[in-house]
Amino acid sequence: MGEQSIKVENLVKRFGKGDSLVNVIDGASFSIDKGELVALIAPSGAGKTTLLMMIGCVEEPTSGTIYLGNEKVYENRWLTKETRKIRREKIGFIFQAHYLIPFLTVLENVTLVSQANGMSKKESEMIAMELLEYFDIADKANAMSSQLSGGQNQRVAIARALANKPEIILADEPTAALDSARSIAVVEMLKKIAVDQNVAIIMVTHDEAMYPLCDRILKIENKKVISSEI
Ligand SMILES: Nc1ncnc2c1ncn2[C@@H]1O[C@H](COP(=O)(O)OP(=O)(O)O)[C@@H](O)[C@H]1O
Ligand SMILES: [Mg+2]
Repeated sequence: MGEQSIKVENLVKRFGKGDSLVNVIDGASFSIDKGELVALIAPSGAGKTTLLMMIGCVEEPTSGTIYLGNEKVYENRWLTKETRKIRREKIGFIFQAHYLIPFLTVLENVTLVSQANGMSKKESEMIAMELLEYFDIADKANAMSSQLSGGQNQRVAIARALANKPEIILADEPTAALDSARSIAVVEMLKKIAVDQNVAIIMVTHDEAMYPLCDRILKIENKKVISSEI
């Protein structure tokens, strides 16, 4: 068994009150090890994005416990006032749309957050160039994001998510906008990152062709989370 990266116990999430109360997650427990790439699947509206946002310290749960690495971050309340700091230091987000800024260069897009976090221009650019080389897209460093293809931009978005060296990557349908060859390339890249950098990755996907590229499947069923082997 590997080293635990994410552990969720008896997590509950409700939205609204009274007649408009919606129970989305009701007693979910699971854990994910460092180095694992896990697919999160469930029908639309079942709570996949909500679950990622709770793990990413963006959405506050109703109750339960969340550990990130060795740190207990939530137990019926956030255990720190600085959820933003935890998010910034530990989590990399990748979304379906790449959300790159079209009128900035690729390099500027990747260095934006680390520079906002106080890293020097020189250091952030060095890290960014390493990542762009790793993703075979360094030759586009000075191109505008708007000049790149969808697949190229998604690789840049992954580089950006890695720029703060996260322990955990949360990817919400990262391949939904890509064709199947590009989707496979992106998921293989995520698997390589998980192994090389000992990062835990949860990837929401609707694409069954991606399952065999993952280590395990987590499924939201009856408002709980069930783990199954591929
Ligand atoms: N801010 C919110 N307020 C009220 N209901 C919400 C909110 N966010 C999500 N929901 C509801 O929670 C459920 C799960 O949503 P979501 O996590 O986006 O599902 P998925 O990502 O699996 O499609 C849906 O019924 C949705 O309407
Ligand atoms: Mg969603």
